[in-house]
Amino acid sequence: MFSGLLPARPAVLAALGLLLTRLSCFSLSVQDTPHIAAFFGTKTRYEEVNPHLLRDVLSVNTSVLKPPPTERCSPVHLTAVIRHGSRYPTAKNIRRIQKLSELVRTEASRGSAGSDGWLRDIRGSWESWYTEDMDGQLVMKGRDDLRQLARRLATLFPALLAEENRWRMSFLTSSKHRCVSSVEAFQEGLLQHWGHHEAAPEYSHQVDDELMRFFERCRGYVEGVENNRTALLEVERFKNGEEMEGVRRRMAEKLGLPHHRITPDLVEAAFFLCSYELSIKSVHSPWCFLFDESDAKVLEYKSDLKQYWKRSHGHAISSLSSCPLFHHIFRTLDKAGRPRRSTEAPPEPASILVGHAETLLPLLSLLGLYKDQTPPTASNYQSQQSRHFRTSRIVPYAANLLFVLYDCQRGPRLQLLVNESPMRFPGLEAEDAPLYRDVRATYRHLLDGCDFHGECEGRPGGRGPNIEL
Ligand SMILES: *[C@@H]1O[C@H](CO)[C@@H](O)[C@H](O)[C@H]1NC(C)=O
Ligand SMILES: *[C@@H]1O[C@H](CO)[C@@H](O)[C@H](O)[C@H]1NC(C)=O
Repeated sequence: MFSGLLPARPAVLAALGLLLTRLSCFSLSVQDTPHIAAFFGTKTRYEEVNPHLLRDVLSVNTSVLKPPPTERCSPVHLTAVIRHGSRYPTAKNIRRIQKLSELVRTEASRGSAGSDGWLRDIRGSWESWYTEDMDGQLVMKGRDDLRQLARRLATLFPALLAEENRWRMSFLTSSKHRCVSSVEAFQEGLLQHWGHHEAAPEYSHQVDDELMRFFERCRGYVEGVENNRTALLEVERFKNGEEMEGVRRRMAEKLGLPHHRITPDLVEAAFFLCSYELSIKSVHSPWCFLFDESDAKVLEYKSDLKQYWKRSHGHAISSLSSCPLFHHIFRTLDKAGRPRRSTEAPPEPASILVGHAETLLPLLSLLGLYKDQTPPTASNYQSQQSRHFRTSRIVPYAANLLFVLYDCQRGPRLQLLVNESPMRFPGLEAEDAPLYRDVRATYRHLLDGCDFHGECEGRPGGRGPNIEL
């Protein structure tokens, strides 16, 4: 970040770092945030979930670690499953953005609404700067997301993410460019935390798509859900339903365009434009003024419906496709928690796994998290207002699921954190950090089963929709 410029004196560095952090946050005040920023689904900034980071990106709340106060415990292992940071739009969305901006530039509001400042901005000073070659790559802000996350985790787990453990940690990533860049940024963050300033860490990582992109290798999932239009029927219905219709109509009116010119895809393109300008450039884009909060909630629901039916509880096979990752994590925890003699080598302190929203959602679902009593559908938008399944909260950029293993007097304990907040295991809600053996007992059926070949190859089409009414 600002390596090279500064003398290598830790105290001076710390002070300057703090100052620079404060200064750079100045331009990103809470007031600059669009009113709809918390509803961008998987395109939400991490700061919307943890707004205190807008004031200080390195602030850490150590009381999120909650082993029982009555027992002496110390963390012995951290497994972190992390989503890549902020990224450019994919080529498909860039084409939609171009279509939208062309339409607005050439046809919008020859009549009435021309006096609105934001529309003048869109037609005058705003220029589309997206090109198709940006296709999904990590942006500068995305690198910062991962560097800063690494620095906070190193503060939260000083004994695990310690410099002397540097070569005993493992780093696995999806092969996608944005994930490889993210794992590198995470390692840079650790080096910064330890006071090193080399620009390119001599660290290494392993690419493992079997673990981090399991979803594209699971035939039952690909055939039964991914390439199956019927599996996402609720999304199609909602896209053409009355709530979306209302958003389209209001957007067309604000732009002074005939209703039919604004398709649901173009509505989404404008919404995503607002999100990208914020997450990539930290600016409050004029496109944001096309939507009020109730419009944004409708669009958030549309994207939640898609994730629910494509990546989560909607179809059992979606979560079961993450069985390889689930087993990998519990094997790592088993090893780290095993009793050992003092002469034996200490366990692996940390396992850092970098992937996608599509990696995290199935795994969270397999663990039984964020499962509402009634599934979200095209027809129950109103009654879903207080649902737990909110992708804006669960999988923003740099989303993370942390498994913290403690060594405690009564044996190993495990705590879960999602986006740096404590999250209890379903079925073990009495404690933040239950005994590891109780967690294993809760997931016995998955530990003994959840076989990738059985689930993914044995029964094409999976186990069908998983609707509990
Ligand atoms: C710190 O975390 C604890 C536990 O999650 C929470 O109750 C508390 O409100 C947090 N404090 C701050 C300042 O965010
Ligand atoms: C597609 O999805 C529907 C609804 O979930 C399911 O009934 C059907 O079996 C699936 N088709 C295939 C080829 O798996």
